[in-house]
Amino acid sequence: MEQRLDDRQRQHTMSGAAHASAGSSTAGFHSWLRAVARAPTVTPPPTARECLGRYSLLRQIGDGGMGIVYEARDTALDRRVALKVLRSSLTGDREHNERFMREARTGAALNHPCIAAVYDVGEHSGRLYIAMEYIDGATLDEHVGIARLTVDAALEIAFAIAAALQCAHASRVVHRDLKPLNVMVTRDGGVKLLDFGLAKRSEDSSASARVNTPLTETGRIMGSAGYMSPEQVRGRHVDASTDVFAWATIVYEMLTGALAFPGESGAERVAATLRDEPRELPRVVAMVGTQLGDLLRRALSKEPQERPTSDALVASLHRYRADSLWGRYNRAS
Ligand SMILES: Nc1ncnc2c1ncn2[C@@H]1O[C@H](COP(=O)(O)OP(=O)(O)O)[C@@H](O)[C@H]1O
Ligand SMILES: [Mg+2]
Repeated sequence: MEQRLDDRQRQHTMSGAAHASAGSSTAGFHSWLRAVARAPTVTPPPTARECLGRYSLLRQIGDGGMGIVYEARDTALDRRVALKVLRSSLTGDREHNERFMREARTGAALNHPCIAAVYDVGEHSGRLYIAMEYIDGATLDEHVGIARLTVDAALEIAFAIAAALQCAHASRVVHRDLKPLNVMVTRDGGVKLLDFGLAKRSEDSSASARVNTPLTETGRIMGSAGYMSPEQVRGRHVDASTDVFAWATIVYEMLTGALAFPGESGAERVAATLRDEPRELPRVVAMVGTQLGDLLRRALSKEPQERPTSDALVASLHRYRADSLWGRYNRAS
């Protein structure tokens, strides 16, 4: 359980300088991006130029439940990649090997500008790795933690995540672990969804296809408390609407700076998910207007069938963006 629940406490690779310069406005957002661009590398290289197959490891950039992620160089194609290497404690375990391979295949099946592209998968001296597009930026977890975003910036990110989900759901993939730590914001303001480690691809071709979510697998909660839907924390069947719920918790957090379902421990956050309505929801609705507010409210419904689809999220955000651009244009003229 701890591995995923404690993700938020994990050490981040961004420097203190980048944290210090963050502000709470759009200017803060841009100065934060500039600071990240200047931030020195804080993690030393693993062992001098260790190689896994044709990939030369440069430095560690991430440390998740399943694997360690390195910045690496693909020596054949001479390009930078991110190399996710299955944790050595999990290597040799059939279940984890299969899950890792499934993660690679699921990621490779999705082709979208807001989803980190999978390039290759391989094994070297018994170590499994996935080579993927290197994302130059910071996770939304770091982002939400250091800067209160403007409503516009938060909704741009919300739009990008919804578009990534729309692509996954169209391919019958449910992510099941959507949270700020699995979303990255690039230096130029792009957004990339990561980590299909818990994703499930349904065999059923219907849009409402459901996948089984065991509550635990080798002692781990499948998902992250505070972002998981009520049906997911109960270990029930989940479908694409579980990602829509997680999406709404992230949007809420970006707009308020607070968790939608707070608690000191994973158990408290799970209890809040099952019991409470997010405290600041009325303020969020006032921030984004009744139409988007209603969408968010429905996305946070305890009942999966009441939530909008990812198609509806994208369509509503499209409309919102067009209306607000139109409003600005009219004001300016
Ligand atoms: N393609 C990538 N480019 C840059 N950093 C990445 C990339 N993939 C993962 N990371 C970093 O590594 C961390 C862990 O990766 P993730 O795929 O979420 O692993 P886990 O399944 O172990 O949680 C991420 O939170 C992010 O900081
Ligand atoms: Mg992760």
